[in-house]
Amino acid sequence: MQAILLVGGLGTRLRPLTLTTPKQMLPLLHRPMIEHVVSGLARHGVARVVLALGYHHDAFRDAYLDGRCAGVEMACVVESEPLDTAGAIRFAYTESGMEASGGTFLVANGDVITDLDVGAMLRVHRSAGAEATIHLMEVENPSRYGVVVTDPDGRVDAFLEKPAEPAPSRWINAGTYLMEPSVIGRIDGGRRVSVEREIFPAMAAAGTLWALRHNTYWVDAGTPQTYLQAQLDLLDGRRGPAAVGVSPEAAVDPGALVERSVVMVGAVVGAGSAVRGSAVHPGAVIGAGATVLDSVVGSGATVGQGARVTGGTLIGEGFAVEPGAVLSGARVPEVA
Ligand code: GTP
Repeated sequence: MQAILLVGGLGTRLRPLTLTTPKQMLPLLHRPMIEHVVSGLARHGVARVVLALGYHHDAFRDAYLDGRCAGVEMACVVESEPLDTAGAIRFAYTESGMEASGGTFLVANGDVITDLDVGAMLRVHRSAGAEATIHLMEVENPSRYGVVVTDPDGRVDAFLEKPAEPAPSRWINAGTYLMEPSVIGRIDGGRRVSVEREIFPAMAAAGTLWALRHNTYWVDAGTPQTYLQAQLDLLDGRRGPAAVGVSPEAAVDPGALVERSVVMVGAVVGAGSAVRGSAVHPGAVIGAGATVLDSVVGSGATVGQGARVTGGTLIGEGFAVEPGAVLSGARVPEVA
């Protein structure tokens, strides 16, 4: 099975971290987010991935010069301008040679961290004779997602992207799809096309779209809160043995308190400081007596002595928080 991974978005919700690093190259635990996605798919039989790139595409190419990502064969295609999700699928499919091999392929949003059983999804897809099948998750508040209504057999009756309340279902598009090559023929070339707003609603109307309701481990790691959550879940052992948060190549002062946090290679945590529920990226420095709570300190950034950084604050790569500053829910630098 081959997979197209959509990784060309701007990642605006994670700015300023994504101003310098594309979202899927941000570290999650101790390796880039994309590697978590690819290794998850590889466990379920995906043997080749095509990265649909745009924004900061060089970051991916530079990281995987040998053409392999997490041990999986990787090809890259780069849009000269963003084509949106369906446009990107069409472009990746035609430019990467997938057209020649034909057959069912997988598509995933590059920020979906999941233990989805792709084999089970493929069985549903095949037995239904579906043109495409979507993985669905059940969530408390579906309004910020694509909401999917199915009949009892799993055929999609309606696909509603971010509907006004009340949503007709709590099952949402979880961002992994199986597709037949005929889907490509539904997507216009040379313009922006959204799979969620245009292609899936049209397929639902045509009766060729199916869904697999499968509640499993799933996080869309595209917001500050979920980007941290994906890492805390690994530390908490929610996806297997609990992971180690502090890199052996980080320098944590014995008088510092680090709880439920990721402290990455080359980071320094000073005496008397406290880091909780946070991610401290490579080479970042937490000054003596500082507090970092539920926040992300970007690569090479500095939190000055005695500063308090809390409430989902994001500090961009190389930026500094003044000693004694108090920040909550802030972006450093501020972003539009
Ligand atoms: P936000 O700006 O924070 O919403 O993030 P985003 O730009 O990543 O958008 P979103 O999370 O909605 O996109 C879903 C997936 O599609 C992500 O993995 C994006 O990288 C990807 N994506 C969105 N638009 C494009 C595009 O035009 N081209 C490509 N190749 N990928 C895209």
